[in-house]
Amino acid sequence: MTTIETTLDEIASRLLQADRVLFITGAGVSADSGLPTYRGVSGLYNGEHTEDGLAIEDALSGEVFARRPDITWKYLAQIEETCRGAQPNAAHLAIAELERYLSRVTVFTQNVDGLHRQAGSSEVIEIHGNLQKLVCTGCDFSESVDDLSGHQLPPLCPACGSVLRPRIVLFGEALPEAAMDHFLAALDEGFDMVFTIGTSGVFPYIAEPVAWAAQSGIPTVEINPLQTRLSPLVDYHLPLGAARAMTAIMTRLRAARA
Ligand code: OAD
Ligand code: ZN
Repeated sequence: MTTIETTLDEIASRLLQADRVLFITGAGVSADSGLPTYRGVSGLYNGEHTEDGLAIEDALSGEVFARRPDITWKYLAQIEETCRGAQPNAAHLAIAELERYLSRVTVFTQNVDGLHRQAGSSEVIEIHGNLQKLVCTGCDFSESVDDLSGHQLPPLCPACGSVLRPRIVLFGEALPEAAMDHFLAALDEGFDMVFTIGTSGVFPYIAEPVAWAAQSGIPTVEINPLQTRLSPLVDYHLPLGAARAMTAIMTRLRAARA
């Protein structure tokens, strides 16, 4: 019978043989840092309308932002507030530590919280952008902010007075081209193991690389306490939280290398 322990052993031994590893992450990798996920238990998008009478996906859309930036900013600020002060957890730190043992560790994340970089990962592709970078909708002005607490909402450009926006992908907007090009180039160069952690895999650009890896015979691992649409695709599903799973894998890896 396969137990979680034997699955962890197998994943660690696969990782020992690997050299180039891809981590595809979503909100669940930051759940152990206290951040909410979008869907599922205590998800932000659980079907409720916002107090402005809009679905949250509409409030956070490019279209509403263009018309009513005050509405979009109200919910962006709430998300920013929940991210504020969050620290990388054992899963973010383990992924960063793996750079010591492997020649390439690429992180392709949907998260806008910046925690992979904060943990020290050096190759992080933020496909939905980053909440800490503000850009002007009217001119070239941009700035990095740790915290929005001192800003008026919506924040205005100090150079031209237009509304600022975070450099994130709002609903209905295109993905950042440079980030997608970086990811496609990395896929082209190849990986010998693929992990997906804490994502429900709703977007094709998340599910397709996992399906492609599995079909190409590259070992695939999913870390998620729940089953997702990715679960039937992967070789190993670990029904654990991200921090616990990555800690258990790293313990085995360090022991084997000692
Ligand atoms: P979701 O909220 O859709 O999925 C989070 C997943 O994390 C779920 O499958 C949970 O079961 C899992 N999870 C919860 N706690 C966990 C833990 N401790 N360890 C591991 N997994 C855990 O989040 P994403 O897949 O990231 O996009 O959502 C994708 C995108 O949807 C977001 O980037 C956002 C949203 O619309 C934009 O804003 C453009
Ligand atoms: Zn400006």
